[in-house]
Amino acid sequence: GRLTHDLEKLLHTCPTHLREATQKELEGFEKLFARFIYESSVGASINWDKIERLDQGSVRGYGELMEAGSGEILRSLLNKLVVVKLNGGLGTSMGCKGPKSIIPVRSDLTFLDLTVQQIEHLNKRYGSEVPLVLMNSFNTDEDTEKVIRKYQGFKVKTYTFNQSHYPRINRESLVPLPTTSTIDNNRESWYPPGHGDFYQSFKNSGLLDQFINQGKEYVFISNIDNLGATVDLRILNFLLGGQHPGQCEFLMEVTDKTRADVKGGTLIKYENKVRLLEIAQVPKEHVDDFKSVKTFKIFNTNNLWIKLSAMSEVMQEKTLDMEVIVNNKTLDNGTNIIQLEQAVGAAIKSFNGALGLNVPRSRFLPVKKTDDLLLVMSNLYNLQHGTLTMSSLRQFDTTPLVKLGSFHFGKVKDFLKRFGTIPDMLELDHLAVSGDVTFGRRVVLKGTVIIIANHGDRIDIPAGAILENKIISGNLRI
Ligand code: UTP
Repeated sequence: GRLTHDLEKLLHTCPTHLREATQKELEGFEKLFARFIYESSVGASINWDKIERLDQGSVRGYGELMEAGSGEILRSLLNKLVVVKLNGGLGTSMGCKGPKSIIPVRSDLTFLDLTVQQIEHLNKRYGSEVPLVLMNSFNTDEDTEKVIRKYQGFKVKTYTFNQSHYPRINRESLVPLPTTSTIDNNRESWYPPGHGDFYQSFKNSGLLDQFINQGKEYVFISNIDNLGATVDLRILNFLLGGQHPGQCEFLMEVTDKTRADVKGGTLIKYENKVRLLEIAQVPKEHVDDFKSVKTFKIFNTNNLWIKLSAMSEVMQEKTLDMEVIVNNKTLDNGTNIIQLEQAVGAAIKSFNGALGLNVPRSRFLPVKKTDDLLLVMSNLYNLQHGTLTMSSLRQFDTTPLVKLGSFHFGKVKDFLKRFGTIPDMLELDHLAVSGDVTFGRRVVLKGTVIIIANHGDRIDIPAGAILENKIISGNLRI
């Protein structure tokens, strides 16, 4: 009651031409809030004892997929595909202003540039018309619109739409922060409610119906910062060209968990459905079970393939269901707030014939920190038509473990200044660097290398140095 009243007041401050759209959004928020209140009174929504082992066949192996056809056949399959990149996030975790997708990651090309190159290459090679859709947020929209103008002459039609903006709420009083509906006056009072918002915003934008009318059948959705999330022709062929085209309404690409991935969501069987289980839903006493690599062997890459007509149906029938994720934050002014979010993969349980597909690790190459950036900038990878592939000169399938001190290396700008050129890492297993350290040109790193400059010290690795299984700390050299 109280919240409805507050939201109505907000709506009244809205200019008439925006009122209908704002009302739709606020209704979405109200539903999410109601669910949050309900769930806080009944406790955790997952009953650990009801989790069952997945049926055989619920998670297929990528190796089982057939080779995709060629030429004309592929062109017709590609023409039924829409590529969506989740582009609501900022580059703050790497110390950058603006959308994360406009950070240069390799050869001066940004995440966006690489994505456009990939799809253009497909379209040129197969004569197809795969469109690229960006889901922006109010945080990324303006800057993104500016940079995508440069893709006008490319053979990729680009669409954008904005995800919702929901009001943050005060953690103690549960009162919404904003007092007027315009974002610009008080940006801190609003938030983009996670990528689960995709379904509603995509429909509201009119694009869902538009693509269905154009004869498109599937969307491939992924995080813009996952450089491994390319259009995979075998998967496309599995969904659309196999013996039962269109039967799998939702395919989630998962991959084998390592000890470094313990936080990623996993697939389970629950109430006879395939479901995504996220760490936030796990009761405290079972967190260690959740993290175990033995019990839950795979995790969600957030590369998802979803049938458009099925998406339209679940929205029409209001059977789309995603758990609420409660994100607690403290604003700069000290206010404790909560923002209610949803994850796009959580909707898997609302679709028929949902499957996991265990894909090679190479399809999960996220760039979250400068640690990841160092790897993708190095000679471990080759770049071709916007796609990064592991160099054949690397002897092992695994990538090195890299840990750079966040104070000196955490921001992209600082990070770049500390390398004359990116070191040769073809034979590297582990790298740990901390403190005021710089690397000259053409340094080679092999095996395990640890470099620690203590407070007040500085270590400059000279140009051309070859460091193999070395620990360098202060003036101690081993
Ligand atoms: P994040 O980078 O924030 O999350 O978003 P994460 O920790 O990897 O993974 P999740 O959230 O647990 O899956 C992943 C992608 O989703 C977009 C970001 O731009 C990024 O590409 N995103 C996130 C949105 O588009 N909107 C949002 O509200 C949140």
